[in-house]
Amino acid sequence: MLRIAVIGGDGIGPEVTVQGLRALEKVAGKLGVQYSVRQTPFSGERYIKEKLVITDEELADLRNNSDAIYLGAVGRPDVPPGVMERGLLLRLRFELDLFINYRPVRLYPGVQTPLANKTGEHIDFVVIRENTEDLYCGVGGFLRRGTPNEVATQEMIATRFGVDRCLRYAFETCRSRNKQNPAKGKKLTLVAKTNVLTFAHDLWMRAFTEMGTKEYPDIQREYHHVDACCMYMVAKPEMYDVIVTTNMFGDIITDLGAAIAGGMGVAASGNLDPTGKSPSIFEPIHGSAPDIAGQNKANPIAAMLSMAMLLQQTGTARKDAKLVQAGDLIEAAVTRVTPRFAGKTFDRLPMPTKEVADLVLAEL
Ligand SMILES: NC(=O)c1ccc[n+]([C@@H]2O[C@H](COP(=O)([O-])OP(=O)(O)OC[C@H]3O[C@@H](n4cnc5c(N)ncnc54)[C@H](O)[C@@H]3O)[C@@H](O)[C@H]2O)c1
Repeated sequence: MLRIAVIGGDGIGPEVTVQGLRALEKVAGKLGVQYSVRQTPFSGERYIKEKLVITDEELADLRNNSDAIYLGAVGRPDVPPGVMERGLLLRLRFELDLFINYRPVRLYPGVQTPLANKTGEHIDFVVIRENTEDLYCGVGGFLRRGTPNEVATQEMIATRFGVDRCLRYAFETCRSRNKQNPAKGKKLTLVAKTNVLTFAHDLWMRAFTEMGTKEYPDIQREYHHVDACCMYMVAKPEMYDVIVTTNMFGDIITDLGAAIAGGMGVAASGNLDPTGKSPSIFEPIHGSAPDIAGQNKANPIAAMLSMAMLLQQTGTARKDAKLVQAGDLIEAAVTRVTPRFAGKTFDRLPMPTKEVADLVLAEL
């Protein structure tokens, strides 16, 4: 039984997760996948009404009684910035120890890229971002805050444990990905800034080299400085297969990745605990889009691909081939629908939310 907790959230969040759940229902019926779904109230709307984001008990309940979390988007204009990010998204990420941020950068057929002369053959890689350390640990402080002599520090943390577990997941992803895609070869690129961040990124480089040499000799290793990587992602995205990077740099380059792969209407992401001890979170990268909420204009493709990823990743962690197959079927159905919108901007499809989802369901 696959137990899914749904955080629909605010704005278009609930509108698009409904469509992802319809795809799940269809594919589960086809393959005989047993699952349960429960809706949760975590949202900016709840915060406005109750001044509450999530209680400790609710978080423990999510951890103990769900296998995966399917998230739409949270946030409203009347909720102060940071409340939902720190109170829910970052809190879940840290307390559930979701140490991988998984971001495929794949240009689906028919989806427009801003890059000239690039197709799906050129734009097809995965970014694996370390998700719990680096500049995001909240280590730092102020001295003489608010005075002309103020000092502020924010420390970059890299632990051998944290770096190793991220690298191992990246090497493994590289291996299994190339099983499906043998033409591309197996290459893992470390993206960092070893020439300037000579302590933390030295650790990354040593760990990368040691693990690669000893345990993954079949995988070609490559290193790029983050600034060079930004140029290559635009000029020669075909050179990437799997990228592994730090929390801060990953935050930035994954948005560049989403932009070259067609934007917010199609980009899906996962915050993963690949060990399966905690439920991983799967979500479209877009926000709650209050400007179009309630108007049936949201593109549900990103949310449907997030559901595909939920099934693929949870299936891989649980060694359940049927779940992986269910996810693959949804992704394949999406790739048969996207060509119909060739030449259109995927953040603004000329068709209502439900009708776009109906096309995917028909393919399923
Ligand atoms: N993970 C999350 O829950 C998450 C992520 C980003 C932003 N937010 C929150 O969402 C709210 C709005 O943020 P924002 O405006 O900066 O970003 P946004 O992604 O919500 O919207 C940016 C633009 O993209 C459009 N858009 C986004 N998703 C779309 C879709 N599926 N189909 C069609 N158009 C789409 C919107 O209409 C808007 O014009 C804020 O409260 C923010 O904090 C939440």
